[in-house]
Amino acid sequence: MTDPTRRQVVQAALVLAAAGQAGAKASAAMLGPDGDADALRLGCCYYPEQWDESRWKQDATDMVARGLSRVRIAEFAWTLMEPEAGRYDWGWLDRAVDTLSGAGLGVVMGTPTACPPEWMVARYPEILPVAKDGQVKGFGSRRYYSFSSLLYRRECARIAKAMADRYGRHKGVVGWQIDNEYGCHDTTYSYGAADLAGFRTWLRARYGTIARLNKAWGTVVWSQQSPSFEAIGLPTSSPYDFPPDMLLDYRRFASEQVMAFHKVQADVIRPLSPGRFITTNFMANFTEFDHYPVGQALDMASWDSYPLGVAAGKDDARWDRTGNPDLTGWNHDLVRGLNPAPFWIMEQQPGPVNWARYNPAPLPGMVRLWTWEAFAHGAGTVSYFRWRQGQVGPEQMHSGLNRPDGHISAGGEEAAQVAKEIARIGPIPKSARGDVALLFDYETVWMTEIQPNGSGQDHLVHAQSWYAALRKIGLNVDIVRAGTPVAGYKLVVVPSVWTIDEKIRAELAAANGLVVIGPRSGSKTADFAIPGDLPPGPLQSLVPVKVKQVAIARAGTGVPVTGTGITGQAMGWREWLETALPVLAHYDDGEAAVMGSARIWYVGCQGDAAFTGSLLKTASNRAGLKTYDLPDGVRLQRRGALTFALNYGPRSWTIPEARRRFVLGGKLVGPQQVSAWRDA
Ligand code: GAL
Repeated sequence: MTDPTRRQVVQAALVLAAAGQAGAKASAAMLGPDGDADALRLGCCYYPEQWDESRWKQDATDMVARGLSRVRIAEFAWTLMEPEAGRYDWGWLDRAVDTLSGAGLGVVMGTPTACPPEWMVARYPEILPVAKDGQVKGFGSRRYYSFSSLLYRRECARIAKAMADRYGRHKGVVGWQIDNEYGCHDTTYSYGAADLAGFRTWLRARYGTIARLNKAWGTVVWSQQSPSFEAIGLPTSSPYDFPPDMLLDYRRFASEQVMAFHKVQADVIRPLSPGRFITTNFMANFTEFDHYPVGQALDMASWDSYPLGVAAGKDDARWDRTGNPDLTGWNHDLVRGLNPAPFWIMEQQPGPVNWARYNPAPLPGMVRLWTWEAFAHGAGTVSYFRWRQGQVGPEQMHSGLNRPDGHISAGGEEAAQVAKEIARIGPIPKSARGDVALLFDYETVWMTEIQPNGSGQDHLVHAQSWYAALRKIGLNVDIVRAGTPVAGYKLVVVPSVWTIDEKIRAELAAANGLVVIGPRSGSKTADFAIPGDLPPGPLQSLVPVKVKQVAIARAGTGVPVTGTGITGQAMGWREWLETALPVLAHYDDGEAAVMGSARIWYVGCQGDAAFTGSLLKTASNRAGLKTYDLPDGVRLQRRGALTFALNYGPRSWTIPEARRRFVLGGKLVGPQQVSAWRDA
């Protein structure tokens, strides 16, 4: 994977590209396969169909001259590929692929299944998604299909096969992106006939008999017993709560539909396109389907990074023009944990977007910083969305690497600078592992949404608060699926995993570092019931504690917590604990808040930043990890032998230790600047 000859070839090609020798015809093959784990590449998303064909060659030439080596195309262009049922028109796409690859770009083909053509919707209206209130979401914009529609899956397999037959072995094609942003625009859930049929089939397979289902769902409460699978409906509307396990099963079912939908296209493309990768592009902070099975089925994972779009949804104006470093970092680290291959940023924000609540411009330096940050966290390729700002359509106000008139934009200048820096620095091996493992679990997100038990409960926000506390003390975090082996980490943190199965329990038992377990862990069985021996259920074999009562406090009210090295306020969720273990911190009423032994702690509350920060700093120090006290905007990340300091904040930061060999920046890291160094 990292043989020196290939590295040199990759580097040489990038140097050529960055130096602007566009005519040098670096072919895609020369750039090496995308499995080359250490290489850093840049790319962009391009829509040849939105521009006059006379511009394509110049665009391709300019991309290479600016140091880009990858381009993703075609992901929404089904109607142009197949204007009428069964009549394909590949001419334009043949010419686009040839032009781009002829200039030296490796092409990623997007399958166009987020946009079924009008003729298909007219012929098969049953593929359309249905909202909870029964309203059919019709033809228009994009993503108007239900994942459960077997008929639509068949149509997707057909177009994927037609594309792969034609381009699967094209020498310029390096990989495939299937569909686009699964679940975007509220499309994971659908409540139509295909969904109902699928849900019933899924329940039959899970439970076998209706008696088992009734027991699991606890339908004895309020006379909710179903006489047969045919009597089961979808959880659309009711005066009050549906059985929680019914809601959880619907979410499990919907999540599996995404995987099944994905697999249909992947299975068709794989044999027809040997040696090319298959990916799909995930979204930031998106939890409606379990990303782990999909991520593991890919050759490499990718995600779409819009730091300002994400920050605009939060009430923290500090990050309006930079994005919040811990939200961007979280998503990098989560996606890195989906698949061992270096991930891609398939779409990187290059300037203002058009779709968030507010759409400020990134501060100068941020496009470069985001790009280096992605590489620091383990990305192999960063591809910007999009090459040129569009002139027509809903996204015409979205920036690109170029203005609509073809001139380079501010973000384009920064991307070109990164290309030159990559050419100078060369490949960087990725790090074997971070300092801390943080366990994450999608079902816990769903269960918290189904049964929050009071306002302000959001598992993603809770898990991200633990992550942010670790990042603020300079630690590198591997976000891993609950149940992944964690032996070898000095510190393992479990912000919360509600259902502890035997695999998760056994891997935590096998951990040889300090394990810190957060509130609500082990609080439900797989059937969404309270464990008979009380929470934390099976974890009691590792940490002898019982939760005897729980409560949620009004937003903004806190209870002081104090202990050795741990101080702050318990906020939101609080548990009353029964145990003989030593107490590490207690509430002001004397009850235990944190307790544990030398190898495992149990934390019975959520807390403010001071509580979470001091808790995890004390734990990290006990675990023998070296920590820093970083300003809110500064984060450190290691990749191989290099450490990166990334400054999102308004003030310069001086790297504390002296002996450094800098490859980017220097000891003083200015606002929106990056330094990277090898230890001397
Ligand atoms: C992404 C999407 C792109 C484009 C982009 C704009 O969510 O995949 O097609 O819409 O947002 O920021």
